[in-house]
Amino acid sequence: LEDASIVADWAARFVLQRITQFAPGPGRHFVLGLPTGGTPLGMYRRLIDFHKEGRLSFKYVTTFNMDEYVGLPRDHPESYHYYMWNEFFKHVDIEPGNAHVLDGNAPDLVAECRRFEDLIAAAGGVHLFIGGIGPDGHIAFNEPGSSLVSRTRVKTLAYDTLEANKRFFGNDISKVPRQALTVGVGTVMDAKEVMILITGVHKSLALAKAVEEGVNHMWTVSAFQQHAQALFVCDEDATLELR
Ligand code: F6R
Repeated sequence: LEDASIVADWAARFVLQRITQFAPGPGRHFVLGLPTGGTPLGMYRRLIDFHKEGRLSFKYVTTFNMDEYVGLPRDHPESYHYYMWNEFFKHVDIEPGNAHVLDGNAPDLVAECRRFEDLIAAAGGVHLFIGGIGPDGHIAFNEPGSSLVSRTRVKTLAYDTLEANKRFFGNDISKVPRQALTVGVGTVMDAKEVMILITGVHKSLALAKAVEEGVNHMWTVSAFQQHAQALFVCDEDATLELR
């Protein structure tokens, strides 16, 4: 698509269509996987518009977020809890108990990851997992070298990730959490459908690696070549490196 705003609009209309087609209701929830980051912000705004226009309800939608930092208070402006509540959940009619974000302050982080996988299974699996990627091809916090069959787990973040994220923490690398909880590549692969949003020239190498070379755990997004129903929604800039 032409640019990032058209990608956002397209993605939101795709979500609207999928939820509407499914016709959720009591005992029949649509299950959505969600990312944070800059890329999906425009999509969230459009979804909020659809809700306000009375075209879309989240009353029977259950959500699972991809990841969360370890040890950041929930109300810290960089926590993914804070992001999701402020950018999306509080503006729509989702039941708070149905909006699942990993708890990076859980006393037992391994148990928290297991609980999250169990919740996804109990919800009947994810219908549509939406994701974004980093310039190094990471999906969620599955950095280069992550197992392509990984499940939700605790990850110690690579130095490059800390460097890339320090801009959100007053440019002070010592303030960036060293660990995160993240869904695995395998967790996302299990979704019935996957939609990855990719915009900007800085993601163009990752997009080329993802679709034009072999499946490779150094570019974890390439795993979706083997998904039965995966969709990459890209802007022109992101396609610069495609042959
Ligand atoms: C988000 C996530 C990441 C981001 C990726 C891109 O929950 O896990 O994979 O989608 O880092 O971030 P932005 O959109 O800020 O470029």
